[in-house]
Amino acid sequence: MNPDEIRRDFPLLKDVIYMDSASTSLTPEPVLASILEYYRGYRANVGRGVYRLSRLADDIYRNAHRKVAGFIGAEGGVVFTRNTTEAINAVAYGIKWRRGDVVVTTAAEHHSNLLPWMRLKDRGIGLKIVEPDRDGSFDPASFEAAIGDDTKLVAMTVASNVLGTALPAREVSQICRERGALLLLDGAQAVPHVPTDVGDLGCDYLCFSGHKMLGPSGTGALWMREYDLLPLLVGGGAVEELDLEGYTLKGGYEGYEAGSPDVAGGIGLGAAVDYLRHAGMEEIALHEGRLTRRLLAGLLDIEGVDVYGSVDSRERVGIISFNVAGVSPTEVAHLLDEGSDIMVRSGHHCCIPLMRHLGLPAGTVRASLYLYNTAEEVEELLAAVEEISKIA
Ligand SMILES: Cc1ncc(COP(=O)(O)O)c(C=O)c1O
Repeated sequence: MNPDEIRRDFPLLKDVIYMDSASTSLTPEPVLASILEYYRGYRANVGRGVYRLSRLADDIYRNAHRKVAGFIGAEGGVVFTRNTTEAINAVAYGIKWRRGDVVVTTAAEHHSNLLPWMRLKDRGIGLKIVEPDRDGSFDPASFEAAIGDDTKLVAMTVASNVLGTALPAREVSQICRERGALLLLDGAQAVPHVPTDVGDLGCDYLCFSGHKMLGPSGTGALWMREYDLLPLLVGGGAVEELDLEGYTLKGGYEGYEAGSPDVAGGIGLGAAVDYLRHAGMEEIALHEGRLTRRLLAGLLDIEGVDVYGSVDSRERVGIISFNVAGVSPTEVAHLLDEGSDIMVRSGHHCCIPLMRHLGLPAGTVRASLYLYNTAEEVEELLAAVEEISKIA
């Protein structure tokens, strides 16, 4: 991975220090080029026409599904969605529930991995919440205690979008297998940053966002072990046979992508996966690990700065939440933007229950890193935070 070469593909980085990739990532030139190429050269719908442009669009869109599946170590089973939220909702809708089934999830989840399960209450589905320790870490034993015979599904994130800490996904997968429960992993903060293999994770569903991994906005994916869910939408493009008495859906992803899909988005996501593979996921993880170690150590050294989550950078992805005593998270984010052109997120990060657990009603400042960030940028952030800590 050549950081200088990579940065040339993100022209926006000439003007700002972008540290909000956990929310959405920047998009490199080759991904933009793939989208323009589609619009300029072979714009047509997919799965419908027999003419040349439509066949070409269909081939490239279909191949993008293969690329995304390969990226997570799967052979098939990938359906394109708008984002992680849609992927999780598709599972919540699509499982054939029975009254009395229970979903186990955690208090550290993004709202997108909480609300879809809370809503199932109306259908007689129970919800059990596993609580983290004081610092936001999870003991696999608390999952042992929560997962019972009535547990239909465990839904948990691989890495926290607030603390950056990894949850014990593999241990939970083992417990699920022993107890016959399904496992949904929210990979929104893991798939873009660390090599991912669904076989190794041992899950049944993996949900993630294309727009957080260099893909276009409005892209995401759902991987399912078997095409066993009821589709969220039915309609055109998804039908194999139809008479007025009933219908048969197409096999594969097409049965789950009714309506004209975001062809350009899907093609762009395929190009994003090519880009990440070329940079090397191992290298990306190492690069982010180095930056995270320095950022963590640097923030811990600044008087008046509190850092949340594990202080062991090996247990983290490149997300760090912190606060500066006497300055609200929103104010810190404003000051970083106005004074130093540094873009970070502030607030509850769509994780109100975790914020309550940590006793942080105003939330945190969150810096999140990606392959295009540099050691110099980390030093600039540390210097800027130190300045802010002095005005408090
Ligand atoms: C862990 C996690 N899950 C789910 C989501 C929701 O992702 P999206 O907004 O792409 O649906 C996010 C977004 O930040 C996230 O970090």
